[in-house]
Amino acid sequence: MTANKPELYRDLSRQLSALLAGEGDLIANAANTAALIYHGLPDLNWAGFYFRDGAELVLGPFQGKPACVRIPIGEGVCGTAAASAATVLVRDVHEFPGHIACDLDSRSELVVPLVDAGGVLGVFDLDSPVLARFDEIDREGCERLVGLFVEHRRRFPGEGGQPMPSAAQTAISSHLPVRQDWLDQRREEIIEPDLAIVDPHHHLVDRPETGRYLLPELLADVGSGHNVTATVYLEWLSMYRATGPDELRPVGEIEFANGIAAMAASGTYGKPRVCAGIVGYADLMLGASVEKVLEAMIAAGGGRFRGIRFITATHPDQAAWGSLINRPSGLLMDGRVRDGFARLAPLGLSFDAWMYHTQLRELVDLARAFPETQIVLDHVGGPIGLGRYAGKRAETFAEWSARIRELAGCPNVHIKLGGLGMRMFGFNVHTSELPPSSEELAAAWRPYIETCITAFGPERAMFESNFPVDKGSCGYAVLWNAFKRIAAGCSAAEKAALFGATAAKFYRLG
Ligand code: SME
Repeated sequence: MTANKPELYRDLSRQLSALLAGEGDLIANAANTAALIYHGLPDLNWAGFYFRDGAELVLGPFQGKPACVRIPIGEGVCGTAAASAATVLVRDVHEFPGHIACDLDSRSELVVPLVDAGGVLGVFDLDSPVLARFDEIDREGCERLVGLFVEHRRRFPGEGGQPMPSAAQTAISSHLPVRQDWLDQRREEIIEPDLAIVDPHHHLVDRPETGRYLLPELLADVGSGHNVTATVYLEWLSMYRATGPDELRPVGEIEFANGIAAMAASGTYGKPRVCAGIVGYADLMLGASVEKVLEAMIAAGGGRFRGIRFITATHPDQAAWGSLINRPSGLLMDGRVRDGFARLAPLGLSFDAWMYHTQLRELVDLARAFPETQIVLDHVGGPIGLGRYAGKRAETFAEWSARIRELAGCPNVHIKLGGLGMRMFGFNVHTSELPPSSEELAAAWRPYIETCITAFGPERAMFESNFPVDKGSCGYAVLWNAFKRIAAGCSAAEKAALFGATAAKFYRLG
């Protein structure tokens, strides 16, 4: 089955489309989806839906033994996937804190959230009696199947059946949905339109739960008035190869980004050198043998591959999560991960770090242990504003800023100024009727950004868009206006560094 797994999922997708075609009844469609998946995939003991009802998930159509009826959002594997709006893949359910054992035979689990533009509508849960039954192909395949189900419901809302609950205002989602009509309500004059910008952090993606953000969408943002001369592509699980050894699948993302870079470099779409630098994902848990993955990425990157990001964000309190998946704790202290990390500098590659403020000590330790490796910390180092940190901005700021100053003592560490539009920072600008102005954003973000610039200096700090993730909070033109307001007191040389030169130097954009 392994070799044909992608084909199996393609086949199931075709069958599901045919099963759903022309039918609008939610229960019938959910029941058939569960039956198709349960009988179509080997080694399952349970497959089915939970639909969101307020702060709970309620059991929907499924195949397998009777199961728990109600699961609070945030609890168990299902509630975690719903709370984070992200797929959760559990190798061993006994290792997942808070796993809810409905069927004692279950050993591994995959839960895919049902996400539409309004938020999380529920989850699709797959259980297996086999340890480590699910891999990235299953994740991708099941996300596609669930995406088909959600898309069908959007196009063909229920007639005879119960409508699926709407999550419109109360959605809990790790990444805010992009609402172009909401963003379009705010237009601003561009501040300092000639200032050259290198955007050192954006993604390109086309998945059911993220929506489509490819070259045309990026170009529309990049061309909205600021002088963006080049961009750096950051990994986000995009376009992995569907076949081949697991560890080499992320090489597909480099091939993809390099193809986009070639489109931009042709000049067909204007001047910005989109994806002039490429940052991929490689699994540092491979230890020293990650070297062959890195070499494959260098070869695939056509001279543009610059390094990797290895997200280590983790927090015991699920309500505080802001990133996609919660990683095991202590990854950067792990000997194997460090063996992998040690391969970066000899290959001339840099490291993008992404973690919460509670973990920054690990990065200090890592940076000191590898002074020759160039590191950049993403999104100002992730001061959390959710869960137990909500309403405690002053305490969090004090802890975070102390760590930032400590980190700045490592000369090999840089910092990205941005990402503050993510839900995890807790600014909640997305809940207002109108999108925020650049004045509002500058006021909210200034303390964080100024603290970083003071600690690191403009030679080691770079503004970033983090689009399309931050597009849930503001438009591209407004975002860079906010940064320009924050940097208004800087000298011309400092601005040149913060908006472009530091990023160009760090990522060797030439
Ligand atoms: N194991 C799930 C509960 C649902 S059953 O597996 C059907 C969880 O931890 O959320």
